[in-house]
Amino acid sequence: MRKLCLFVLSSVFAISAQAQFVNPLYIPPTLSGDTFYLTANDTTHQFYTNITTNTFGYNGSYLGPTLMWNQGDSVHIVFNNQLPEETTVHWHGLHVAPEHDGGPHTHVMAGATWTPSFLIRNAASMCWYHPHVHENTMPQVNLGLAGAIYIYDTIEAQLNLPGTYGVDDFPIIMQDRTYAGNGDFVFDALADSVLINGTPNAYLNLPQQVVRLRLLNGSNARTFVAAFNDNRYFYVIASDGGLLTQPYLTNSIKVANGERYEILVDLSGETIGNTLQLISKGSTLANNEAGGAGMPNGQSPLNGVDFPLFEIRVTAPTANPVVGIPTSLITHNIWSITNVDRTRIKNMQGQGMFDMGNLTINGILFDMMVINDTIYRDNIEIWRINNTSNISHPFHIHDIQFYIISRNGQAPLAYEAGLKDVVHLKQGEYVEFITKFETFTNDSVPYMYHCHNLHHEDMGMMGQFLVIEEPTGTLDNLGNRTFTQIYPNPGTSLWQVNKFRNNYTTWTLTDLQGRVVKTGTTAEATFQITTEGIPAGMYVLTLNENGQTQSLKVIKR
Ligand code: C2O
Ligand code: CU
Repeated sequence: MRKLCLFVLSSVFAISAQAQFVNPLYIPPTLSGDTFYLTANDTTHQFYTNITTNTFGYNGSYLGPTLMWNQGDSVHIVFNNQLPEETTVHWHGLHVAPEHDGGPHTHVMAGATWTPSFLIRNAASMCWYHPHVHENTMPQVNLGLAGAIYIYDTIEAQLNLPGTYGVDDFPIIMQDRTYAGNGDFVFDALADSVLINGTPNAYLNLPQQVVRLRLLNGSNARTFVAAFNDNRYFYVIASDGGLLTQPYLTNSIKVANGERYEILVDLSGETIGNTLQLISKGSTLANNEAGGAGMPNGQSPLNGVDFPLFEIRVTAPTANPVVGIPTSLITHNIWSITNVDRTRIKNMQGQGMFDMGNLTINGILFDMMVINDTIYRDNIEIWRINNTSNISHPFHIHDIQFYIISRNGQAPLAYEAGLKDVVHLKQGEYVEFITKFETFTNDSVPYMYHCHNLHHEDMGMMGQFLVIEEPTGTLDNLGNRTFTQIYPNPGTSLWQVNKFRNNYTTWTLTDLQGRVVKTGTTAEATFQITTEGIPAGMYVLTLNENGQTQSLKVIKR
């Protein structure tokens, strides 16, 4: 665990306090096509004049390009890790196979290249990408590894929504950062200054018309409450997984870590040259919400107060501006409760804050070697998330998008009624969501669910699940090929094999030339094969159980 650095660069904040809104808001470049080259760099960036900060960035020095994907596209990623350490790239919100999901098991070592390919199945939405390294996600995201993903589809294209990137449609990546005396970032849960798309003290020129801001909370822990400084109303049109049924009129929206909300603001009545601010209403957070007044890192001047995110300067309208707000957006067909296959309960529990405590899910800390849940493909499930701990947590699950069916026993808030992959829970709250685990199975590579407070995630407030084919037959007498889990695979010192049944089994490990490397027998459902003395590489494990054989590929690292 990194120690908090107390030598904060106070001069930066003296500068920033005097010179607000002097920097044009950085709009990340876009990448489109079918092959996407991404490189994680170990580099530096100047957030403030004459101050150099060590950073990580995708293709640049801080954050990464916005990836432009269409539903139905096949995309090929060529990711090269130029960091001095292992990383992964996780496609947050994307419905992709677990081996392409970039979770902590998909190690991309320093210098290595990872080339996942997948079909874009998600609906129009903004997702994002960031590292997901075991116990090292927060430091890598903190240093700058994160980027936006825009997904387009034909349904959205038929709506008259602002959609020209960087003209009337903007990604707004909200983060907070503290700087040490040498200009470097402190690895701080609740930092003391704001970066929007990596820009401090930012202003953004917006045309005098309806514009779309795609808000993403990419911070370590802080919850933002987006609003305008004049309290004007705006429309929420989309949540994590895409468009809502209809625009929702409000004057503030809470955006917790990992969440996305897209808003429309109508500037057509403004005078050109007018300014306003997008702010975070930190004063509306409960004391024990991340960013509330009662947080232990109470030194942060942003805790519990309202503060600006960036300034908006109204400029002349574009040639064909979007005027008006659609009255309805898309149709949602929520899975029926009568079709639910099973219910799971996840308790976000413990007493703690950031760098200490015993925050867990169901009392269990994350363990790379332990599968917490096994789910059958095409199961419709209800998950009930209880926050019984002493602070707030954003719960996130990979693979799927879900519908909240109740929050504290009530119907979900209108802006939370669309598809989501993160849900924020205050102390004492509970939420039930319904989802379907469609499309992908993998007997050995799991998906994650976790608290998206990156400190909590790194400290083990995370679990993992496999999605597998539902076995046919009874557990004592299974038919042909059912499922066998091998864990971990690749393995370093051993493979744990789980057959889920204790029939007498002989097993043979052969190399790719067919030479027998090891053999054994077991009468247990679960057994271990040590890999001592076996050269690194790929092998075939063949299980023979009552004359029925099953072969699986295993890798020794
Ligand atoms: Cu945004 Cu498991 O992550
Ligand atoms: Cu948490």
